[in-house]
Amino acid sequence: MEIRKKDILAPILSMLVLMIFMSCMGDRLINARSPDGSITLELRDQDGMITYSVFKNDKVIIENSILGMKTDQFDFFDNVKIIDKESRTHKETWTQVWGEQKEVVDNHEELFVRLISNENSHKMNLRFKVFNDGVGFRYEIPEQDGIASFNILDELTEFNLAEDSPSWWIPAYAYRRYEFLYANSLISEISRDKFSELVENLNGPRIGPEAVQTPFTIQREDGIAVAIHEANLTNYSSMTLKANGTKNMECDLMPWSDGVKVRTQAPMNTPWRTLIIGESAADLPLSTLTLNLNEPNKLGDTDWIKPGKYIGLWWEMIGTNQSTWGSGPHHGARTERVLEYIDFGAKYGFDGLLVEGWNTGWDENWCCTGEGESFGFYEPHPDFDNKLIAEYAWKNAMRIIGHHETGTQIDNYEDQLDSAFAYCNRNGIRVVKTGYVNDGSQNIKRIDENGNVQKEWHHGQYMVEHFRKVLETAAKYEVSVVVHEPIKDTGIRRTYPNMLSREGARGQEFNGFMPIDVNNKPDHTTILPFTRLLSSPMDYTSGIFNLKDYRYKSPDDRTIDTKHHIPSTIAKELAHYVVIYAPVQMAADLPENYKGNPAFQFILDVPTDWQETRILNGEIGKYITTVRKDRDSEDWYLGSITNGDSRTIEIDMSFLEPGKKYDATIYKDPKDGGWKTKPEEVIIESMVFNKGDTYNIELPSGGGQAIRFSPNR
Ligand code: NOJ
Ligand code: CA
Repeated sequence: MEIRKKDILAPILSMLVLMIFMSCMGDRLINARSPDGSITLELRDQDGMITYSVFKNDKVIIENSILGMKTDQFDFFDNVKIIDKESRTHKETWTQVWGEQKEVVDNHEELFVRLISNENSHKMNLRFKVFNDGVGFRYEIPEQDGIASFNILDELTEFNLAEDSPSWWIPAYAYRRYEFLYANSLISEISRDKFSELVENLNGPRIGPEAVQTPFTIQREDGIAVAIHEANLTNYSSMTLKANGTKNMECDLMPWSDGVKVRTQAPMNTPWRTLIIGESAADLPLSTLTLNLNEPNKLGDTDWIKPGKYIGLWWEMIGTNQSTWGSGPHHGARTERVLEYIDFGAKYGFDGLLVEGWNTGWDENWCCTGEGESFGFYEPHPDFDNKLIAEYAWKNAMRIIGHHETGTQIDNYEDQLDSAFAYCNRNGIRVVKTGYVNDGSQNIKRIDENGNVQKEWHHGQYMVEHFRKVLETAAKYEVSVVVHEPIKDTGIRRTYPNMLSREGARGQEFNGFMPIDVNNKPDHTTILPFTRLLSSPMDYTSGIFNLKDYRYKSPDDRTIDTKHHIPSTIAKELAHYVVIYAPVQMAADLPENYKGNPAFQFILDVPTDWQETRILNGEIGKYITTVRKDRDSEDWYLGSITNGDSRTIEIDMSFLEPGKKYDATIYKDPKDGGWKTKPEEVIIESMVFNKGDTYNIELPSGGGQAIRFSPNR
């Protein structure tokens, strides 16, 4: 066929017209690429509006999403110009004080873009970092004439996902902070109604928009998994993601009670908005992007910060229901009971003993209005002989882990902060568990500048700043913290390594006090590694051995409440110590439930500080197998868990070192076991493995498997 000139010229001409048109529109495109070339960021100035897109392996993941900010004094939104840009490559390796891996590589391409508002010449910068495991970006308002203190009314960042994918999420603006089971739905289906249908009924006042907490995880048709989160949440309010019935999400900042999102002043940087991107879901948990986007250790000497394992005078209140936090005949934190726990802990080499209910304030309405009895944070309860206990613990090489339940009486806690942590320092307490129980939406009492009572959200700027104040005060007294009902983790542990662990999800406690129909489901801990744990670590408090018939009706009525049954197995509880990372891990059950059980040996052996971590396999909400190498020996540990389905997973021992034989001690469920049938039966077996051997992990419904590998000497 003859090719006519017109056929060739037509597309060229139309392309030219389009290019001329686009340049008239002021379109400008800037690119940045990850060091391995797999992730690309595209920034576009579309006639005064700045948008970004993100690609993985040349597939669009986030498309044309708006960047911008509205404040009470200026906007950066639709009348903005790019002035210039700078790019640089960064590569560095840094060492963690403790962690899932000792060395962290920070290798990224940085793109720094200066913007100016056409309206009033105000300046704002955008900084992007493109890593092999995702992208982080933030807004920076530099010091400049005409901008001092200002209020952010809205951050306009969009996350327009390219596909309406399955997603795993917990609701924001809901009454129980982050303590929910996860919903799994399409992005476009996200709503409180959907959550009520899939997970639990969200009654109560529906304040705030339909939104989810982060990390928020999706998995696409092609297997690529993406988690949206933030890094270095400092002097800002936390980001939730607003849903609107489509596949597009939008940044939604938790407001102050007066509706302002953030109170700030120039110069300032927002937290990093992050996209962790993996070829598959199993890539996500290894991401180091969140840590790399935080500032290096600020504390200098960190010798006083110690990972380790602890037991607790705790489950007997929250789990077995035989004791109380408050005064009375069943008060748990009595001197003689505490000394018994110390004896047990010392015998088995535990580092710490958590004692809850050791102080005053538990007797009247400690939760949640802030109107009840005030907690004292340096006044032991008369049943708790502080001096004697401190000496006894010291003699037995144990430390008491302090407990500061605040009931969200923030002023009461802040008034005592220095004295509270000075008390810890004096009494050999080097870790404190804090708590902020308040099961209400927007219910944290704050007295404003005029003496009026305001009610704040748990995740707003007021609380972000409170949590930081506590962390800094604790560091001043060489105390580390484990925070319950915390603000979500955004990698702050890099800057403050005394930020050891936190809850911030539904933990084991729900299995303690909730009956079987509403406690944690067998899939819960197979979702956490791909969602909440991406911000790691978590004080899940594993290690319950007495999984059935453990709870009394009340401390007075010692008949068993048969409605309680933990949907787990002992082998799965052991595997959690490897799967769910934390530098301090609790053996949560009562001493009497460990005595004489050979499976307890795994809890005694398993380290809490690692040289290296690998995820051998995993699918969100189905299963995961994690292996970690001890920081202080040549030993490897494996944890594998499944949801309610039984399955066989073939693994390849490629992680072991060549030329070495490893003795493996295997803790597994019986073949016909599982959470329903034989949850408390564990089979302990020995095997020998070399690098490259294959092995079938058999997991019955709700079960798990834990293995210790030691080089054969
Ligand atoms: C909730 C915490 O998560 C739990 O661990 C603690 O025992 C209670 N609050 C009481 O402080
Ligand atoms: Ca809690």
